[in-house]
Amino acid sequence: MTERELRILLNDMSLEEKVGQMVQLPGQNYGSFAAVTGKAEKKEDGQPILDQAGSTLGIYGAEKLKKIQKAYMEKQPHHIPLMFMLDVIHGYETAFQCPLGMGASFDPELVKKCAEIAAKEAAAGGIHVTFSPMADLARDARWGRVMESTGEDPWLNGKMAAAMVEGFQGENRKQTGKVSSCVKHFAAYGAATAGLDYTNVELSEHTLREYYLKAYQEGIHAGCDMVMTSFNTWNGVPSTGNPWLMKEVLRKEMGFDGIVISDWGAVGEMVNHGFCEDRKEAAERALKAGVDIDMCSDCYADYLVDLVREGVIDEKEIDEAVYRILLLKNELGLFENPYKDADEQREKELFLCEGHRRTAREMVQKSAVLLKNEEDGKAGKLLPLNPAEKIAFIGPYIEGEDMRSSWVVTGSAKNSVSICQAAKEAFRDDQICFAKGCTLLDNDTLLNGSEYHSDSWEEDNDRLLCEAIQTAKQADVVVLCLGEQNHQSGEATSRTHLTLPKIQRTLLSEISKVNPRIVTVIFSGRPLELSEVETHSKAMLEVWMPGTEGGHGIMDLLTGVCSPSGKLTMSFPYTVGQEPMSYSQLTSGRPCPKGSKAPFLTRYLDCSTAPLYPFGYGLSYTDFSISEPTLDRTEMQAGETIVASVTVANGGKRTGCEVVQLYIQDVAASCVRPVKELKGFRRVELAPGEAQRVTFSISEEMLRFHRGDGSFGSEPGKFRLWIGNSSEDGEAREFFLY
Ligand code: GLC
Repeated sequence: MTERELRILLNDMSLEEKVGQMVQLPGQNYGSFAAVTGKAEKKEDGQPILDQAGSTLGIYGAEKLKKIQKAYMEKQPHHIPLMFMLDVIHGYETAFQCPLGMGASFDPELVKKCAEIAAKEAAAGGIHVTFSPMADLARDARWGRVMESTGEDPWLNGKMAAAMVEGFQGENRKQTGKVSSCVKHFAAYGAATAGLDYTNVELSEHTLREYYLKAYQEGIHAGCDMVMTSFNTWNGVPSTGNPWLMKEVLRKEMGFDGIVISDWGAVGEMVNHGFCEDRKEAAERALKAGVDIDMCSDCYADYLVDLVREGVIDEKEIDEAVYRILLLKNELGLFENPYKDADEQREKELFLCEGHRRTAREMVQKSAVLLKNEEDGKAGKLLPLNPAEKIAFIGPYIEGEDMRSSWVVTGSAKNSVSICQAAKEAFRDDQICFAKGCTLLDNDTLLNGSEYHSDSWEEDNDRLLCEAIQTAKQADVVVLCLGEQNHQSGEATSRTHLTLPKIQRTLLSEISKVNPRIVTVIFSGRPLELSEVETHSKAMLEVWMPGTEGGHGIMDLLTGVCSPSGKLTMSFPYTVGQEPMSYSQLTSGRPCPKGSKAPFLTRYLDCSTAPLYPFGYGLSYTDFSISEPTLDRTEMQAGETIVASVTVANGGKRTGCEVVQLYIQDVAASCVRPVKELKGFRRVELAPGEAQRVTFSISEEMLRFHRGDGSFGSEPGKFRLWIGNSSEDGEAREFFLY
C-alpha cells in the first residue's frame, strides 16, 4: 500500500478498531501450542478484541500461522493482517550460542550471520518480528538476564546490537528471510538494583546517558523497527510511563521513529509499582509516554476508547500510534502477502540444515573462552587432548541436559549434539569412557516457576559418584562437564550466590583426589564464582549455553581441531560480594596499588577488588606476543588522528586467533572518566611463526563523552592508551588532544 492508502485506511477505521491495533494478546488466544513468556490470560471466546488485536506473540509454525491469519483476517473489519512476534533470541530451530557467549566471539560479522540464519528460519515459520537484540548493559552477574546481553562494555554491546539488527532485517525486511527487530529493554534494565528483575534502577542522568543508552542508540542507528520498554523504574519512574525517556530521549534525541512496545504486562504493572492508582490510569500514562503497543496487560483494550471519549486522550495520539503500526505491517509487505514467508517446504529445507549447523558450530568454537591451560609434565599443556591417552568424560552435561539457553521458545534439545555423541565421533570406543557423576542440580532447587526435586536424589548421587570415581581411575585425563542448569539464567533467575551446585563441587573435589588431570568445561549463562574449579582443574573452558551444536564445537576445541579464541565480555568475580563489577569502573580518591597493605585506601579487607578473570581475557593453544604500541604522533587536534600500531606474533606451534584490544583513558575531565574503555578490537589469525602489524586510528570523535556541563564532546588534555590481549594487558602510552 502507498502511504496515502494507509492514511485513507486509518481514517476509515473506528476508534475501537484503531485501539485494537495497539493491543497485543498472548498467543494462547490463537493457538494452544503457544510459548508462554509471561503471565498469560486467555480471552473468553467471541470477545471482539480477539478479532481486533493488531498482533500476538508466542505462536509459530508456517501451517498453523497461515490458518490463524486466514481466519483472523476474515473477521477483522478492514482485513488488516495480524503481526506475529516471537523471542528469537539466539536462533529458531537451530539454536545458537547464547548472546553473552556470542559477544565473547568478538566477531560482529559472525553474530550478524547467526541473526541472518535465525531470521530465515523464523520467517519460514511465519514470524514477522523478533524481540531481539537485548542491548542492556550488564555488570551484575546476580541478574540472570546477563545471559541475554553481550556484556559489560557499552561500545562492544553497540557493535553487537547493530550486527543483530542488520542480520535480522537486512536492507529490506519485506524480502524473503527477513524479520523486524526490536531493541530492548529501554532503558537501563541491566542496572536493576541488587540484580533483581522487575524492580528499580537508580542511575544519575549522566550515567544513564554515558554508559547505559549507548548500545540502544547503535541498534536504532542500525534501523531497528521496534523498541521495547523495560520493566524497571528509573529513579522512581517506570520506563513504560516515562514521557521524558520515551519521547524526549528515545524519539527526539536518539531519533527513533518506529514502534514502542511495552514489555509483557508492563503497562498494568505500573499499578504494582505504585505509579498508577489503577489500570485505567496506567493506560493513560503509557499512551502519553508514547507506548504504541500494550503487550498482554489489556489496559489499552479495556480503557483507551473510554479515555478518548472522555477527552482525557486526544484521538490524534491514537492515530499516530496506529499509523506506525500500519506502516510496519506495510513495510513487512503484509497487506500484499499476510503470510509473508510462512512456508512449510522452506521450513523443511532450512531448519537445522547443514549450513546452519556449521555456522552454529563455528560460533561455539569462537565464543568459548579458555580460562586456564596449565603445563602438564613432559607432554606440555593438558589441552588440546592427547589422542594417545584414555579420556573420561564425566559430569551431568555430558548428555541429556539442554545446552540451549532458557530463551529457546522453539526447537528441541533432541536436535542438539551432546558431548557424548561428539566424543564418540572424535575418538575410538577404547579411548573414551563416560560417567554422569551427579545430578545437575542440588535437590529442591528453585527455578523460574518450578522446583527441582527427586525423592531418590541422595542414593542416585551416591551411586553416580562411585561410578564416576571408578571411571576417573581408569582414565589418563578427565573432562569434567559442569555448570548452571539452563533455567538458572535468563528472566526471573536472580541469584545471591554464583557457585556451581554443591553436588557438582563435591564431584569435582572427589574426582580430583583420584585423577588430578582434570579439564573442566563450564556451561553457564553468567559469570560464576570459579575459584574452587580453578583450584582443582588443570584446564578450564567456559562454553556458556552453546546451543544445538554445543557438543561438536566443544569437541573441536578439546581435540585441537581449532584453538580457543573467545574473550570474556563480563568480569568473572572471586565472589558475588564484588558485584556489580566492570573493568571500566571509575577509580577513587585513594586507589590501592596492587598488593599494598597501607591503611585508608579503596579495598576490601577480605577480597581483591580485581576479578578472578577480567573483561577481554581468554587464552589460546598457541603463544601470542603483542609488541608495545608505537604512535605516529603524540599530539592531535579535532579532525586529526593518531595511528597506534603493534606487531602481533605467533610464537607457538599452532595456528590461532588473537583478539587484539585497544583501550583508552581520559586522564582528567569535567566528569570523572573510567580507568579505561574499549575503543577497538581486531581478530588476528596467525599460523606458527607468522607476525602481523595491527593499527588503530584514534580520532577526536572517539574521545567524546557527556561532559560536566551536560554537553557532549571531547575535552583537551592527556590520554592514555593500551593495546593488549585483555583489559589488564599492555603498556600504557600517552597522547594529548589540543
Ligand atoms: C518477557 C521479557 C522480554 C520478552 C517478552 C516477550 O517478559 O522481558 O524480553 O521479549 O516478555 O516474551
